[in-house]
Amino acid sequence: MPLDQTSLLIELEPVVATNLDRHLSLAKEWFPHEYVPWSEGRTFDGLLGGEPYQPTDSTLPDVARTALIVNLLTEDNLPSYHHEIATLFGRDGAWGTWVHRWTAEEGRHGIALRDYLTVTRAVDPVELERARMTHMQAGYTNGHPDEILHSIAYVAFQELATRISHRNTGKATGDPIAEQLLARVAADENLHMVFYRNLLAAAFDLDPNHAMRAVTDVVAAFQMPGANIEGFGRKALSIALAGIYDLRQHRDEVLQPVLRQWNVFGRGDLDGDGEKARDELAAHMEELEQQAARFEEKREARRVRLNR
Ligand SMILES: [Fe+2]
Ligand SMILES: [Fe+2]
Repeated sequence: MPLDQTSLLIELEPVVATNLDRHLSLAKEWFPHEYVPWSEGRTFDGLLGGEPYQPTDSTLPDVARTALIVNLLTEDNLPSYHHEIATLFGRDGAWGTWVHRWTAEEGRHGIALRDYLTVTRAVDPVELERARMTHMQAGYTNGHPDEILHSIAYVAFQELATRISHRNTGKATGDPIAEQLLARVAADENLHMVFYRNLLAAAFDLDPNHAMRAVTDVVAAFQMPGANIEGFGRKALSIALAGIYDLRQHRDEVLQPVLRQWNVFGRGDLDGDGEKARDELAAHMEELEQQAARFEEKREARRVRLNR
């Protein structure tokens, strides 16, 4: 019998407590203001009569600006994410302490990115603010609102996906200051990933078939947390074409390493629906392999065409 949601919360709480302590011992304090080159800033037009934004204010490549906007809008939706996990995990005991700590750390990411972008005039601040209003008003809803294991599996992958995306966005800027900032944010995301990954590893030992089903469902339906940003499809395509976040990275650098940690394909404790879910996952990973290879071929052909 799979454990019900309340039993899962109770059984996993000691694991949350242990991993919370682990997290707090590893997480380094850092300050967003130290990462921003404030002396480069200039007053904008409007109330204070400064200089209007112009695209030539910054030399950042277009695709890096696009990726920075997507990453920032994704971070901006934190109130929705907080609502979703606080509703599911609760605000009591170790679960609650984690929820609030995690939220506080995530809050830093949006602050740091926005300060950097505004001071360096890397993006149009009016467009950015309008995009934030639109995006936050749409909100974010968990794809599996009543399923704790599905939600933990999702965040394990999602934290690693944002880690990779922040890190590669930093590289794509060509600006050592942005790169340093995004590497710092990526380090936070990595610790978040480890927390959720360890939690689901414990769930695998507790209720293997149930955990396996959760993982398969989540991998099959995976969408980035910012997938409902206006114009996301177009933005995600240019981000993939630039190699900042593409299907190959999603499969090989996000899904695979986490699946390997859970020993998904080597476990001897699955049967029934768990075994079926594992077979579905294997087929899906193979399908992703083919899609990733196809995308890489097309991207290479496009590169050759554009360089002719
Ligand atoms: Fe974040
Ligand atoms: Fe995170």
